[in-house]
Amino acid sequence: MTLLGDTITTGGLKGARGEILAIRGGQPLRGSVSVKGAKNLVTKAMVASLLGESPSILRDVPGISDVAVVRSLLEAHGVRVDDGDEPGSLRFDPRDVESAHMEEIDAHAGASRIPILFCGPLLHRLGQAFIPDLGGCRIGDRPIDFHLDALRKFGANVDKLPSGIRLTAKDGLHGASIHLPYPSVGATEQVLLTAVRASGVTELRNAAIEPEIMDLIAVLQKMGAIISYEPNRVILIEGVEKLSGYDHRAVFDRNEAASWASAALATDGEIFVDGAKQPEMLTFLNVLRKAGGDFDIREDGILFRRGGDLRGVTVETDVHPGFMTDWQQPLIVALTQAQGTSIVHETVYENRFGFTDALIKMGADITVHPHGIQDGPRRVPRRNLEQAAVITGPTPLRGADITVPDLRGGYSHVIAALTAEGESTVRNVGIISRGYEKFFDKLAGLGADFDVIG
Ligand code: EPU
Repeated sequence: MTLLGDTITTGGLKGARGEILAIRGGQPLRGSVSVKGAKNLVTKAMVASLLGESPSILRDVPGISDVAVVRSLLEAHGVRVDDGDEPGSLRFDPRDVESAHMEEIDAHAGASRIPILFCGPLLHRLGQAFIPDLGGCRIGDRPIDFHLDALRKFGANVDKLPSGIRLTAKDGLHGASIHLPYPSVGATEQVLLTAVRASGVTELRNAAIEPEIMDLIAVLQKMGAIISYEPNRVILIEGVEKLSGYDHRAVFDRNEAASWASAALATDGEIFVDGAKQPEMLTFLNVLRKAGGDFDIREDGILFRRGGDLRGVTVETDVHPGFMTDWQQPLIVALTQAQGTSIVHETVYENRFGFTDALIKMGADITVHPHGIQDGPRRVPRRNLEQAAVITGPTPLRGADITVPDLRGGYSHVIAALTAEGESTVRNVGIISRGYEKFFDKLAGLGADFDVIG
C-alpha cells in the first residue's frame, strides 16, 4: 500500500512503495502542517450519505486509505462518488443504490471496521444487509455485540454465517429504547444512523458524545433528522420518513493534531498545526501543559512546543470528555523524554500498549502492567479491564529496526525514530496512511531526515 496523497518526491525521498523508511533522528521537527476533516467523522458521514434521497457533499475530506475503503464500499453498493466543487470535497449520489455483490464488499472491506455501520442505512433502503468479517487495527478484541444488540432492538433479524453477518428487516425498523453497556463510539453511530429513519422515537442512553459524534448529528440534522441531546449521555431521535442529502464541512482531526503536538514535544521542536481548534482539544491541552508542553492558540491553528523541561504525568484514557485513547501513543514517546515517572492507564482498549516494545528496544524505560496498577481512584470507572504503562525518563533513544503494529502505534514509532540518535529502519509504515494524509510530505516539510527504502 502506498501512502495516499504523498508525492514521495519531496525532501530527497526515493522509492515508491512507501512501506519501509530509513530515518536519521535527533533533529527537532520544525514548521507547519495542516489537518483536514477527522477520519472518525468523515468515514461515518460518507456512510450517512446512503440515507439521503439526493446527493451529499462532504468537505475537507482527507486523502487517507480509510476514506478510499469507504468510497469503494459505497461504490460497490451503487453510490456514485465524484469530486465535489472544491479541492478536498466529495459528492455522493445514492439514488441508484442496490445490493452489492458480496465478493466485492469482502474485497474492499478487509482493512476497515466501517462496514458494520452500513447496516442501518442498507436495512432502510433495501430491507437487507450483509457484513463481512471486520478489519481495523488489532488493538484488542473489538467485538460488535453492542451493534448487533441495538440492531435487534430496532427489529432486525441477525444471522451469523461463517462468511459474515446477514441482516434482514422485511417489515422495516422501529424506534427502540437502548442502553449501551459502555459509551461506545461505533455503537452510538450505529444507533444514530439506524434510528433517524426508523418509525417512532429512539432513546439512546449511555451514548458516546465525542465531537465527531456531535458532528455526525449535525450532518444528520442537515439531512432532515430530528435528534436532541439530553444531559447525562442521553440522545433522543424521532424517526422521519425521508432524508435528503447534506452539504457539510467535517470537524478537524483532533487525533492528527494531538499527534503532531506530541511530535513537537518529543523532538524538542516547534510545530504549528493549521486547522487545530481549542474546544475539541481541551483535555489534551491540559495534559500537555502538565507535562511541560507549551501551546499558543491562534485564529487559524495551534502552535506546539516545549515550555521548558518535560515532566512526568499521570494520564487515564477515557471516552469524551476524557483523554482519548488515540492520544496516548504519540504522547508516550514524548514522555520518554520527560523528567520522572509517568503513568498511562488505558481504559478503552484491552491491548493498546503493544507499540511500546519498539520504544523499549530503542532504550525507553517502560513497563507495561497488563492488569493495571492501583495508584489512586479512576476518573470515572467504567470497566474492569485496564492496562497501565509506567514510563521513567528521560532516556535517550537510539536508532533500531522496528515494525509498525497499527495506525497510532505506527505514528509513534516514526516519531520515536525521529527523536532517537542514529538511524532507524521502520517497517510496515503503509498502515499509517489509514489516518494521516500526506504523511511523508508533512514529515519532509518539518525537516525530518529520511528515505523511503522499500
Ligand atoms: N466495544 C464492545 N462491543 C461493541 C463495541 C465496542 O465491547 O459492540 C468495546 C471495544 O472493544 C472497545 C470499546 O468498546 O474496547 C470502545 O470501542 P468503540 O466502539 O468506542 O470504538 P470504535 O467505534 O470501534 C472508534 C475509532 C477509534 C477510537 C475509538 C475510541 C473509528 C473508525 N474508530 O472506534 O479510532 O479509538 O472510537 O474513541 O471511528 C483510530 O483512529 O486509530 C481508532 C482506533
